[in-house]
Amino acid sequence: MRRIQFKANMSQYRVLVVGGGGREHALCKAIARSENLLELYCTPGNAGTAKFATNHDVQASDIAGLVNLAVSLSCDLVIAGPEAPLCNGLADSLAKQNIPCFGPVAALAHLEGSKKFAKEMMQRAGVPTAGYDILDATSNIEQALKAKSNAPFVIKRDVLAGGKGVVVTSDMNEATDFILQSIKTDGYVLLEEFLPGQEASMLVVMDNNSFLPLPCSQDHKRAFDDDEGPNTGGMGAYCPAPIVTEEVHLKVIERIVSPMHQHLSSLDQPYRGVLYVGLMIDEKNDPYVVEFNVRFGDPECQVTLPLIKSDVLEMLYSAATDKLKHYLAEYNKRYALTIVLASEGYPASAKTGRIIEGLAAFEKERETDSLWVDHAATTLNEMGEFVSSGGRVLSVTSMENTLEESYSKAYEAMNFIQLEGAHFRNDIGRKAF
Ligand code: AMP
Ligand code: GLY
Repeated sequence: MRRIQFKANMSQYRVLVVGGGGREHALCKAIARSENLLELYCTPGNAGTAKFATNHDVQASDIAGLVNLAVSLSCDLVIAGPEAPLCNGLADSLAKQNIPCFGPVAALAHLEGSKKFAKEMMQRAGVPTAGYDILDATSNIEQALKAKSNAPFVIKRDVLAGGKGVVVTSDMNEATDFILQSIKTDGYVLLEEFLPGQEASMLVVMDNNSFLPLPCSQDHKRAFDDDEGPNTGGMGAYCPAPIVTEEVHLKVIERIVSPMHQHLSSLDQPYRGVLYVGLMIDEKNDPYVVEFNVRFGDPECQVTLPLIKSDVLEMLYSAATDKLKHYLAEYNKRYALTIVLASEGYPASAKTGRIIEGLAAFEKERETDSLWVDHAATTLNEMGEFVSSGGRVLSVTSMENTLEESYSKAYEAMNFIQLEGAHFRNDIGRKAF
């Protein structure tokens, strides 16, 4: 189906972006390019979003505060960065004030908030994913684990746990301990089949009537090189990911995105926002869903939005108002790659409050349209210096004609920024070339 160009008669929007990480920096930057933007606000934001938006101090967890802020600023659109406010009813509360929200209502945000709900939705839509058992206090855990002992055990808590709710291990004792602990705190836990293969992410913008798959990307979730160390929020990403060939892409649309969209559209409330489809692609090039998220990935967002040549704000507004089918997406034929710089101790704990040396000079002297820094946990001190304020501090992003070139430029640029004790991976994107 050909998309018809959206001829907006230059609407002027007041927009509020919720969140304060690298993803929100990328969102603010992309939105700031729009000719349809009147005012851009971000809350709580960071020192990077402040370059494009007016930052406010309402936290993403304060739903009433966010709605009051959007009303007081006469916002035409609210864009939810993280999932928590969506799971807590941000879109539902904004709807009562007639403010469009990019991000689904709470009932559908549970696609991310509850692994069990996501599995049930996938079953109803006939979407391929790993089989699973529910274990609770009445289950024979040893028997359940033995039945799956020919591959690593995959155990998932059914709560929003900020990346800490999943354990993949071949160690029976570790698996048993995590299961018992999870049953104690949550009442039950999911034991999934292990899916072998390579991971990729597809971000699909959706409304009630249509969907728009954005170029696929690959994240690097483990803290250290060669996928060693603990899971993190994501240590770097690149886009597009060559593993998602045209053949795989077609399969993902036919087997996963299309049936999922059809199922969502049959429900009482539309899904308006982005569905993050976490994929495992097996050796036969067959895709399976590992997880759904109901928001842009971080750092996937930082490498996906820069590839969109058409108006990103119009895309987001169209999805929030069920007009996405009129939006014509155009892309750069380039490769974006981002490397996350994380604080000492991340992900277990993070040493914060340290001066980020070289960042201001880098931005003044070296930043271009194809090389830049996305701020994540940065603030400015009284002296006007950039200071770290969380685990993932910033990421360096490069966008060039080849992945190899983006890789070299991004790593070269990383040399200009120093943060005591910080770490980053040296192999972002390397397995793709
Ligand atoms: P999730 O939070 O569900 O995305 O899981 C976190 C990570 O665990 C994923 O990115 C995968 O690397 C891994 N994982 C999750 N489920 C499976 C599975 N069924 N088979 C293999 N690896 C998995
Ligand atoms: N980078 C993974 C996520 O945003 O969930």
